[in-house]
Amino acid sequence: STTTNLAVIPGDGIGPEVTAEALKVLEAAANIEGTASAGLIKFEQTRYDLGAERYLATGEVLPTSVLEEIKGQDAILLGAVGGKPNDPNLPPGILERGLLLKLRFELDHYVNLRPSRLFPGATSPLSPAVLDQGEIDFVVVREGTEGLYVGNGGAMRVGTPHEVATETSMNTAFGVERVVRDAFARAAARPRKKLTLVHKTNVLVNAGSLWWRITQQVAEEFPDVTVDYLHIDAVMIFLATDPARFDVIVTDNIFGDIITDLAAAITGGIGLAASGNINSSREFPSMFEPVHGSAPDIAGQQKADPTAAILSAALLLEHLGRPEAAAAIDAAVLTDLSERGSAPRTTSEVGDAIAARVIS
Ligand code: NAD
Ligand code: IPM
Ligand code: MN
Repeated sequence: STTTNLAVIPGDGIGPEVTAEALKVLEAAANIEGTASAGLIKFEQTRYDLGAERYLATGEVLPTSVLEEIKGQDAILLGAVGGKPNDPNLPPGILERGLLLKLRFELDHYVNLRPSRLFPGATSPLSPAVLDQGEIDFVVVREGTEGLYVGNGGAMRVGTPHEVATETSMNTAFGVERVVRDAFARAAARPRKKLTLVHKTNVLVNAGSLWWRITQQVAEEFPDVTVDYLHIDAVMIFLATDPARFDVIVTDNIFGDIITDLAAAITGGIGLAASGNINSSREFPSMFEPVHGSAPDIAGQQKADPTAAILSAALLLEHLGRPEAAAAIDAAVLTDLSERGSAPRTTSEVGDAIAARVIS
């Protein structure tokens, strides 16, 4: 039995509600018999009260000492960050940039892994004609440390009619190559072995050319993988009309952000979409979190669907080399989804139901 040091950052809004359920299910999966034969998983949890409340009370977002402590953990489970909208004491970006992106950047989470699968039992808003074309089961490998998210920009003459605002996307050969290679490896390990590069090479010619050339180069190492290319706008068309065509998508930070909200919407909703911020070189702990945010509109009401957080815990187990425990969670979610009726359940009722399925 090994001990896994787990940092838990429940965060804001529905974050603490969904994280509580993810931990419930994680513990259940760590204690099942199939897991025992592979060696019990023991989690040693440390909770970090980072988020809006701490910021508003102390002005602290992510103190260096806390960041250093988190760097020494084995993995991170995060709920969501983001305070109440239009809070005059909490300017936009403080937590998003100072906490969430800071963690992704400092812990070098260059692979932002976002699987999209239409589970039997989940409801897609797409028409039967679209759904009949094939199964929706793809994964977006979103670059996590570069692009428009680096904060490379500025503002001049703010508030005047001559205001200028810039946000410059940064793409490095090193950064693009490592995420593209990771995506190829994931494609090679999947039955359909297909990789779609997504960009806007017809307009963003500098970054587009870099992504295109590196993809062609890395493709030579993976002769079994079929390579496809789509512009980002066309991806929006195909996600609505033929999502079965996708297997692995590799793309930059902002395109990946946008694609994965739509991908969630067509596969049962944002309440089901899980993600992993992976440091594939394993120098730093990886971080697992739902794709959704803090949902201030439903926070504190036990209305949030914890499934995305629970499936993120499964991704965490997979990353820790415990696929049998991850599969037990996936199976429990699948059963729960197929038995979901129309009667509303609270966040913890959903968590309890899934945890019970993991155990039995
Ligand atoms: P959001 O994902 O929080 O909410 C969008 C809509 O989806 C809302 O109507 C919400 O009620 C619903 N929703 C989200 N999660 C749900 C769940 N589990 N079950 C049921 N319904 C759910 O996005 P937003 O409203 O654009 O952002 C709110 C705040 O969250 C902002 O501060 C934003 O910056 C932040 N945010 C954080 C993360 C993150 O922590 N990874 C991700 C996205 C947004
Ligand atoms: C997400 C969120 C974040 C992102 C924000 C809150 C910084 O939208 O995890 O998808 O853009 O990556
Ligand atoms: Mn997003």
